[in-house]
Amino acid sequence: MRNIIVKTNALTKHYETGSHTVIALNGLDFEVKEREFVSIIGKSGCGKSTLLHMIGGLDSPTSGTVIVDGMNLSEMSQEQLALFRRRKVGFIFQQYNLIPDLNVYDNITFPLELDGARVDKEFIGELLKTLHIADKIEVFPSMLSGGEQQRVAIARALATKPAIILADEPTGNLDTSSSHDVIGLLKVIARRYQQTLVVITHDLDIAQMADRIVRLQDGKILRGSDSYVGK
Ligand SMILES: Nc1ncnc2c1ncn2[C@@H]1O[C@H](COP(=O)(O)OP(=O)(O)OP(=O)(O)O)[C@@H](O)[C@H]1O
Ligand SMILES: [Mg+2]
Repeated sequence: MRNIIVKTNALTKHYETGSHTVIALNGLDFEVKEREFVSIIGKSGCGKSTLLHMIGGLDSPTSGTVIVDGMNLSEMSQEQLALFRRRKVGFIFQQYNLIPDLNVYDNITFPLELDGARVDKEFIGELLKTLHIADKIEVFPSMLSGGEQQRVAIARALATKPAIILADEPTGNLDTSSSHDVIGLLKVIARRYQQTLVVITHDLDIAQMADRIVRLQDGKILRGSDSYVGK
């Protein structure tokens, strides 16, 4: 039996917008097992990104709990949360957020340097090879295609060997074929390093690449929406 690595309990998130309150998450119970690949789908505004932010400790809930790898995030200090984000989680966003003045290699190793951690050159080399960007290490982001930039962002997220990879529409800016390649590579790497993978997507074909698909609606998981892709 695999352990549960992510668990949310009656999770709510309200945003005050002056005139009214937006209920982004509305009592959400969600679990992910270790090494599972889960995709999250649902209409724009249903709370997908908000949920991912809560799991990644980027934002705090209004009520309810988030437990990741046995840690209750709401009981952690800002410093502990910062370390948690840096060491446990790899974030991949639709915007690649690469640093323009750093070449590919430095972009990828930047989070490690920030943490004062040793750069495992062999591992980085393997990542670069798997992601087909080994010949680009000295190139600056502006000279890369969208797909290449996204693969650099993926390598950066994976460089710290995080237990959990959280991706928010990671292929939103890519064409269908590049999207499939990128998710395929992400899946290969997550398997190889026994990582848990949560991917938000609007693309049903991409969602189908996961072990399980979860659908959100109005800040909740649509009951009975879990589908096990069974791969
Ligand atoms: N910082 C914020 N302040 C106020 N409202 C917010 C904030 N962030 C999100 N919301 C609102 O919370 C709801 C959920 O937003 P969220 O970004 O989680 O949706 P989403 O499912 O990721 O949508 P999309 O598919 O468009 O990315 C939306 O109604 C959104 O307008
Ligand atoms: Mg979103």
